[in-house]
Formats: sequence, C-alpha cells, structure tokens
Amino acid sequence: MHARGFLLLAFASRALGNCAYGTTGFRPLPGKVAVSSFTYNDLKGPLNWYALNTTANKPCALGRNQSPIVLTSSTTRIPSSSYVLEVSDYPGGAEFENIGSNVQVVVNGTLTDKRTGTKYQSAQFHFHTPSEHRINDEFYPMELHWVFQSAGFVVELTDSRRVVDPLLATVFAGVAAIAQPGSRAQTGPLRFGELTRKYRDADLWRYAGSLTTPPCAESVNWLVSTQKLYLDVPTWLAAKKVIKFNSRYSQNIPGGVNLLENAAITLKNVIS
Ligand SMILES: *[C@@H]1O[C@H](CO)[C@@H](O)[C@H](O)[C@H]1NC(C)=O
Ligand SMILES: *[C@@H]1O[C@H](CO)[C@@H](O)[C@H](O)[C@H]1NC(C)=O
Ligand SMILES: [Zn+2]
Repeated sequence: MHARGFLLLAFASRALGNCAYGTTGFRPLPGKVAVSSFTYNDLKGPLNWYALNTTANKPCALGRNQSPIVLTSSTTRIPSSSYVLEVSDYPGGAEFENIGSNVQVVVNGTLTDKRTGTKYQSAQFHFHTPSEHRINDEFYPMELHWVFQSAGFVVELTDSRRVVDPLLATVFAGVAAIAQPGSRAQTGPLRFGELTRKYRDADLWRYAGSLTTPPCAESVNWLVSTQKLYLDVPTWLAAKKVIKFNSRYSQNIPGGVNLLENAAITLKNVIS
C-alpha cells in the first residue's frame, strides 16, 4: 500500500540575514492555471477534507500512515547516496504557478533509487509556509516539496535550513507577479547545482506516509533531507504574502490511529 506510488523529497527552509538577488528574467505569463478546490480554512480546510469527497479523500480521516509527521530520533535515517538526484538547469527560467493551495515550479528532474534502479521523474516542486514536517517538535518557516513521478510513482523530498539558497532566491524574486490564484510567470535562470550538492551532503529521513493534501493517498515514500536550506527574511516575507498558510497539521505516529478518527470516537457519546 505504501512505498510504491510516490516519492517526496522535502527540504525545510530557515530564514536568515538579508540578501538581495536579481529579479532579472522574471516576467508574468498570460493565461491561467487551474486552482485547487480545497483550502486551509474553515470547512474546506484539513479537518474537513474528507467531507469534500468521501470516496477519494477517505485516507484523510481514516488513513493510519498520513503526512506530515513529527520527525524524531526514532525516524529511520539513510544516506542520501541511496537516491541520486539529477536536475538540469533552466537557463531560460521555468514556469512558476499559483494554484491556490500552493505555488509551484514546473521542472523535470530524476531521483534514482540506487538499490532497485527505479528512476522517478519529477513534475514540479512547491512550497509550504510554515513547514509541514517538524523536526523534534520544532517547525521551520518554509518547506520545499519535490514531487517525483514515474509510471504512477511520485516522490517528494523535504529538507530544512542552511545557507541562503540561490535557487529559492531566484524562484521567489518576483513572486508578487503570481499573487493571484491561477496566475503564472516565468522565473529567471534556475541552477540546481547548489541544491543537489546540499542534498548529497546529508542523510535523509525516510518513512512511508501520504500526500499532505487531498486525496491524502498513502502510496508515498517520504525522504526528508536532514540538511536545511536557508532563505533570507525579505524573500520569505514576500513568499509568505502570496502562499499565506498552507500547512496540514501533524499527523499520528505512523501506524497509529488517525487523529480525526480518534476524535470522532471520543466525541461520539457527547454529540449523539
Ligand atoms: C470524488 O472522487 C472520485 C474519484 O475517487 C471521483 O470519481 C468523483 O467524481 C469525485 N466526486 C466529486 C463530487 O468530486
Ligand atoms: C520535460 O521533459 C519532456 C520530455 O522528456 C518535455 O517534453 C517537457 O517539455 C519538459 N518539461 C519541462 C518543464 O522542462
Ligand atoms: Zn507539499
């Protein structure tokens, strides 16, 4: 059921200092992208995602291996060399979209499982503010999710906090251009060398979890880099203005009872 469909690579980001990066090459693009039907608020938010589609979103309320989680010293750690990350640069920039529930950059890349030889293709990477995964209870100002996919396999990676990352700075340089859900823009030149170097330099946490958005499907292998990416404060503030809040609450320890199911059982006698 898990460890098959998706691989998610996540990087947690940490705000730092004050750096100015050029906005060269950033330009709005015409046309609209489709916007998500779920949100992070009220009856369209995480506590009610199940009700938005009781067939598709069942795992959101009843799944026992949901994401995000709190990563601790009990979480499995593996060397990053177990998965090889390869991304070509985009000297002409890449498309940056506001899909309502997050902002995403559309790029190709591959993550190869060294043990099985399986290659996962990436479709996009996107951002959450604040971080969805927490590390020993602590949250970070942002988290990058990289979704990899190959024949129905998606991989996401997350990591948090280090030096100001030129890739993030370039991506967010003109984020105000996609302030409106549905809008799109072309970023400046994207270079992935620094990110892939940081990825290689640190272990990964690995666990079987889920998508953190509807339908919360559980065929997801999470790889969270133990390395942090650093982002400067002005850039983070600009990103937060557009992304706002899009972080699902921490889920049960993998294999335990879903927190919504638990709440329903607890409340049953009170409200009936
Ligand atoms: C609910 O999800 C299923 C797919 O699992 C889909 O076929 C159906 O159209 C969805 N219903 C609504 C109301 O969106
Ligand atoms: C990804 O690669 C495919 C070919 O493998 C190409 O058609 C597509 O345009 C690429 N997309 C991006 C965003 O680079
Ligand atoms: Zn995500």
